[in-house]
Amino acid sequence: MSVRHFLTLRDLTADELRRIITRAGELKAIHRRGDRHTPLQGKTLGMIFEKSSTRTRVSFEVGMAQLGGHALFLSPRDTQLGRGEPVEDTARVLSRMVDVVMIRTFAHETLERFSAHSRVPVINGLSDDVHPCQLLADLQAYHEHRGDIRGRTVAWIGDGNNMCHSWINAAALLDFKLRVACPKGYEPDARFVEAGAGHVEIMQDPHAAAAGADLVTTDVWASMGQEEEQARRAAAFAADYQVDAALMAQADPQAVFMHCLPAHRGEEVAAEVIDGPQSVVWDEAENRLHAQKALLEFLLGAYI
Ligand code: CP
Ligand code: NVA
Repeated sequence: MSVRHFLTLRDLTADELRRIITRAGELKAIHRRGDRHTPLQGKTLGMIFEKSSTRTRVSFEVGMAQLGGHALFLSPRDTQLGRGEPVEDTARVLSRMVDVVMIRTFAHETLERFSAHSRVPVINGLSDDVHPCQLLADLQAYHEHRGDIRGRTVAWIGDGNNMCHSWINAAALLDFKLRVACPKGYEPDARFVEAGAGHVEIMQDPHAAAAGADLVTTDVWASMGQEEEQARRAAAFAADYQVDAALMAQADPQAVFMHCLPAHRGEEVAAEVIDGPQSVVWDEAENRLHAQKALLEFLLGAYI
């Protein structure tokens, strides 16, 4: 059987995605009971980070340890990747030594080139295009707090970025409605919008997007790699695209607020929202650990 990769949520069927979310909940319960569950003994995860990370690095490293395996942090600065060794050669070599690879990179194409030459599963730990691991954790969090997301309405407020693209993919897979409100010029990439047709609606008015929504979510205005655009982006977003209490009041009273973190209070989200009662951001962050353990089990054939 050919090796399975997880470069985008679309690499899973809807059924596989649901099974991973359910399994993530089971793994969380196992951990909370203090039980040991070590199906990945002797397995090693190689982690290549071209960009900074707190949650992704810690959750993968701790997750492998909890499953009985081992994780290896590799920075291009300290490996031959940073001195020009081709991605294809790195993939051939690493995948003869480790059992699974996670990559956080800029160009999504790097993941595609790496996976095309890898003997072992490759996981996208964030690219400029998508952030599918975060969606596993977020969907798990929605399920924990509000049940099945099918048929619900999610409001994305802000930049049409990698997280927005992954929410579009999730909407199509799990059959919910996504309303995206963003300033002109900051819409999600047409490729994702077309693929999510029937599930995604693009608009500019954040209040229209949030009206009656079951979940309101946002992300930074300038993603990693866009640091020099910070001022221009702040000018485009600041007037209308902060998720504050007034915007949350448009949503369903039972709506939850999500943010993948790191967050900038006073920019894309007001402190009263992210630190308020509707916020489930700490559960999202915690779930990275369990959702990715479920993904590792799935890709390594350890359970599902
Ligand atoms: N949400 C997320 O991926 O966080 P890190 O950048 O800290 O990994
Ligand atoms: N959109 C953000 C997400 C960080 C987890 C970025 O790419 O920087």
